[in-house]
Amino acid sequence: MHHRFIEREMGMKIGERVIRVESCSSTNDMAHEMAIQGEEEGTVIVAEEQTKGRGTKGRKWYSPRGKGIYISVILRPQKRNLSLLPLAMGLAVRDALLESAGIPVQLKWPNDLVCGGKKLGGILCEASFRGNDVGYVVLGLGLNLAHARDEFPEEFRNRATSLQLEADKEIDRGELLQNLWRVLGEWYSLFLQEKEAQIIKIFEESSAFSVGEEIIVQTEKEKISGKYMGIDLRGRLILHAAEGERSFVAAEVVDIKK
Ligand code: BTN
Repeated sequence: MHHRFIEREMGMKIGERVIRVESCSSTNDMAHEMAIQGEEEGTVIVAEEQTKGRGTKGRKWYSPRGKGIYISVILRPQKRNLSLLPLAMGLAVRDALLESAGIPVQLKWPNDLVCGGKKLGGILCEASFRGNDVGYVVLGLGLNLAHARDEFPEEFRNRATSLQLEADKEIDRGELLQNLWRVLGEWYSLFLQEKEAQIIKIFEESSAFSVGEEIIVQTEKEKISGKYMGIDLRGRLILHAAEGERSFVAAEVVDIKK
């Protein structure tokens, strides 16, 4: 029985059903509504623009038409510890961008995609629980696609980049998304098979900062500097700070000291 269960999980195809919309408030919001209505795992929503795109920590995600890739994936993993899911999504995006656009992306724990130190996109993972069980998960991805440098709001201009600015070839968006569904399916299988160590090892190899490096971590309450010691099996960032070892579930790495 157990064997059959894994087979069924691995047979699940991400991107088999793709819902395209011209405009919506947020693809994550649409995905939540559809998941509540019983939409199956693997369905993907792709929007040309979002009027209320959301970023992490209650921030807005500026989502003008034609300038970005805005997508959400509905998943129904029967697992409680979901903290590795956004990391797996980051790895899938990294693989797809390298393959389809030749762009080397680095991952900034927990959910930023960077290129040459500048932000190229981000991941917003939201879960809904029924008691202790996961009802569904929405994995949202926003990627800057076609911005020229002066098209970013001034406050982000020095910290943001787009696929068009980074790629030396024309990007075929359709091909990129096809690749993304495939590799995301592969990373999701690893996640379901509880290959945490494998996911973390490759995440660390793809990280914008390396083990042993001095970093500054910002939480809601404080800013702590210390030596980055890697990611643990629950997806937490481990920091060797002056007062001892600390681990973080959610925080932002605001500075990487060089
Ligand atoms: C971040 O703050 O870095 C995460 C940004 C996530 C943006 C994407 S765009 C598609 C999906 N729908 C949303 O409203 N947000 C995510």
